[in-house]
Amino acid sequence: MSENTKNTSNTIHNNSSNTSGKRAANPKDAILEIEHVNRTYYDTDGNTVEALKDVSLSVRRGEFISLIGSSGCGKTTLLRLIAGLDHPEAGTLRLNGTEINGTDPQRGYVFQQGSLFPWLTIYQNIASGLKARHVYKEQKAEVAKYIELIGLNGFEKVFPHQISGGMAQRVAIARALINKPEALLLDEPMGALDSFTRADIQDKLLELWRLYQTTMILVTHDVDEAIYLSDRIVIMTPRPGKISEILEVKLSHPRDRGGEEFLAIRKKILEKLHLANASQEPEYNL
Ligand SMILES: Nc1ncnc2c1ncn2[C@@H]1O[C@H](COP(=O)(O)OP(=O)(O)O)[C@@H](O)[C@H]1O
Ligand SMILES: [Mg+2]
Repeated sequence: MSENTKNTSNTIHNNSSNTSGKRAANPKDAILEIEHVNRTYYDTDGNTVEALKDVSLSVRRGEFISLIGSSGCGKTTLLRLIAGLDHPEAGTLRLNGTEINGTDPQRGYVFQQGSLFPWLTIYQNIASGLKARHVYKEQKAEVAKYIELIGLNGFEKVFPHQISGGMAQRVAIARALINKPEALLLDEPMGALDSFTRADIQDKLLELWRLYQTTMILVTHDVDEAIYLSDRIVIMTPRPGKISEILEVKLSHPRDRGGEEFLAIRKKILEKLHLANASQEPEYNL
């Protein structure tokens, strides 16, 4: 048995009781508490779309959480509520016990792609995170440190259109992380990248997670990515958008994508997803 798969009996715990609004075992450890959140949209025909219905989730400080589920199940809606980019009709979201009411650099956000300012250089894009907080002068040296961390030395004066998609996502991550957010919210940041670049950024994210112990909340379509990175995987189902299950992944890092336990978790998640979406074509990366 490989190092990665040692001590992994009881690898998955069906922790779905958490979806009923219970807080984490020790509420003091909960950085983010989402309780009974509803968000409804109205489409152009006036029909209601229950993007989220009675969603409750408690996230522990420093935890790596993935949200997974078919398109339209409310992942982005939930992430936007946590970011404070949107508000729920019912329920509450609290960070460190304080109700979320608007955006804050404490909650960094990374979009799927194309979020860099095209008219700014890589250096300036990363610095824009500090400028938004009016601390650029005091913390200027930080920019160089973050460029080094994401492995883009020598690219300081280059513009976004001159770098690859993977490099651009590293810059977007650095721009959010430079404010040392308590939580980093990632909406399919690797969704548009090829699998080699994706694996590279996944390792970079784990490195940064370990270094800064930032709470990570990642939206992904990729089951393997969720298992490779996460402490817990939140499975969502659409219409109405709900949490159907929460699985805990207790494998040690670095995780072996071909390992027995890894594949067992993958099988279990795929079963859950297919069961949950029996009428729909599966669309998950394998
Ligand atoms: N601004 C909006 N207006 C109307 N419907 C929306 C809006 N944003 C999202 N929706 C709908 O809400 C549901 C959830 O969307 P979303 O959170 O983007 O899902 P996901 O990120 O899981 O694909 C979908 O049915 C989507 O069409
Ligand atoms: Mg989305």
